[in-house]
Order: sequence, then C-alpha cells, then structure tokens
Amino acid sequence: TVEPKRIAVTGAAGQICYSLLFRIANGDVYGKDTPVILQLLDLPQAQKAVRGVVMELEDCAFPLLRDVVITDDPADAFRDIDAGFFVGSRPRTAGMERRDLLNANAEIFRTQGRALDAAAKRDAKVIVVGNPANTNAMILAANAPGFPTENITAMLRLDHNRALTQFAQRGGVGVDEIRKLVVWGNHSPTMFADWRNATAAGKPLPDVIGDETWYRDTLIPTVGKRGAAIIEARGASSAASAANAAIDHMRDWIKGSDGDWVSMGISSDGSYGIPEGLMCGVPVICANGSYERVQGLEINAFQQQMLDRTVAELVEERDAVSALL
Ligand code: NAI
Repeated sequence: TVEPKRIAVTGAAGQICYSLLFRIANGDVYGKDTPVILQLLDLPQAQKAVRGVVMELEDCAFPLLRDVVITDDPADAFRDIDAGFFVGSRPRTAGMERRDLLNANAEIFRTQGRALDAAAKRDAKVIVVGNPANTNAMILAANAPGFPTENITAMLRLDHNRALTQFAQRGGVGVDEIRKLVVWGNHSPTMFADWRNATAAGKPLPDVIGDETWYRDTLIPTVGKRGAAIIEARGASSAASAANAAIDHMRDWIKGSDGDWVSMGISSDGSYGIPEGLMCGVPVICANGSYERVQGLEINAFQQQMLDRTVAELVEERDAVSALL
C-alpha cells in the first residue's frame, strides 16, 4: 500500500481553491495510486466557508482522499507535509498602495515561513501562488532558514500555459507540439514570454510563425495582460486556470517534465545576471523529483532588455520588503 501524501493548501476558502482542492483530491498531482490528506489553512473568519468546501469534497466521494484537516494555525497546516500550495494572500483593496500590499503580504509570508520551517518535512515541495507570488516566495524562504530554499518555488506556469495556447493558435499547431518555451521573470505584466529556443513539431517556432512584429507587439503584451483581460470579461480573476497551472507545476516537479522545459520561479543562483536570491521565472527541466535550471543559453539584445525589465521589478519589490528578509 502507498502511504498518503500530506498536502497543505492555504487560502482554502478562496476561488482558486474551489477548483484546486478537487483536482488534488482526484489524484491529479501524485497520480491515481497515491492517497492524499488535505491540510487546509484559512483565516479565522473563513473557517465556516472552508467547512462548506469540505462538505462538497466529501460529497465527491474521492477514493484517494483519506482525511481533511481544517485550521487557522499555520503550524497545524504545515505539520509533516509533503507538499504545500500557498494560495492565500491579502488582496489589494481600495486605497491601498502597492507598497502597502507588498508589506501586508510580506507579514503573512514571514509568519508562514516560520511555521513551515518548524513543521514541514525537509523534502516538502512548495509552490507560492498568492500574489505578489515571486516576492512572497522569497520572503517565505528567508523566514525558513532550516528549510531547503530550492524546495520553495513561485508560480509562472499560468503565464507559460497562456503563452503556449497563444503560440499554438497562431502557428496552427497543437499545444503539445510546442517545446522549449519559457516565461522569464516576475508573475506580473512585465513577465517575458520567450520563443527564441521554442520549437513546434521540431521546427523553430519563430520560423513556423514567421511574424516577429506579432510576437513583440501582440503576443508579449497579450500574455502579460491576460489576467486583467479575464477580470474584465469574467468579473473575477482567473481561478480554474490558475489552479490548473499549480497542478501542472507540482505534477511536473514530482513526476518529471519529459525532457521539456517548464517555467518555474526559483531562487536565483546568479545565472543570466539575475541577482542571487530573487525568485525569478527561468526555464527548468524536471526529473527524478527535482528540477534543473537550463543553463548557458545565449541571450540576445532583445531578450536581455526584456529580462532586465522584469528583473528590475523583482528588485524593486525586494527592496520594498527588505526589512522582513
Ligand atoms: P480569493 O480572495 O478568492 O481567496 C483568497 C483566500 O485566502 C481567502 O479565503 C482568504 O481568506 C485567504 N487568506 C487571506 N490571508 C490568508 C492567510 N494569512 N492565511 C491563510 N489564508 C488566507 O483569491 P483567489 O482568487 O483564490 O486568489 C488567491 C491568490 O492567488 C491571489 O493573491 C491572486 O492574486 C493569486 N493568483 C496568482 C496567480 C499566479 O499565476 N501566480 C494567478 C491567479 C491568482
């Protein structure tokens, strides 16, 4: 028999989790042979709503769902976990400056970092989804000194998946035919969807599409502003697609990416001139339960300019919360 995996999910009463929890309980992360125990964290005032979601999980009768813990205490949520989805965060409210938002979230992720350090298994895999995801992940790592920093990552996969579909539609190919795409940088409109090394059915993607102007003037801003476009159309921010991206990120990290590149926000080791310690989207290959940065890519002037822009934003965010690092 396979031991159940313990999975913490924060922000459990929120809209992303209303999709995410059901996917995890269905076996979409660890596979259909691995039972799961969900450890759900949300604020005290959201506990009743979490209980409602858990009633629905029960009503799905998922064969793999062994147990569910509901708590408002991060230490309880992170105890002995194998994986953590950090979705909960403080949304921007009217009159809130960017700096206030960064600081409110920094406070949350400082507390959660300490609890993670105290309670989680050392080999637990963590993804931060709650925005500002990259900087929140950096704060989490800084406040969990006894927990391996390489096991803390930020989600760029939604941007990656968004770009995949835009390229596939334009190139008239299947999304699964496109490989070696990368989204660099911050999960924000400055992110850089980079097609330079990408292939479609084995041919260079830039040749297949053959329209550099479309790439620069349409594709890059379309992906960058996709979150806003969804809010405009749906009246609420992306939720099911964000949950799906979190599942893709975690599943590939655990099961491998089959030699393909995927975009993950990871702590910089200084590669590509990205300041050490920033949680920055880079290309990685996942295998054997870990990831390896794609190293040594040649970066042209356009790529450098786009990379510099998004990295500058990460540096700005870091400087705004430096007191909590
Ligand atoms: P939501 O507002 O529906 O839910 C957030 C939940 O987090 C609420 O239940 C809230 O009570 C909870 N929460 C707040 N502070 C908490 C804390 N300290 N501990 C535990 N729970 C806490 O938001 P939604 O739509 O589910 O989005 C969650 C986050 O994900 C947002 O920050 C959003 O901006 C971000 N996001 C990130 C994406 C990415 O690609 N990285 C994509 C889409 C959304």
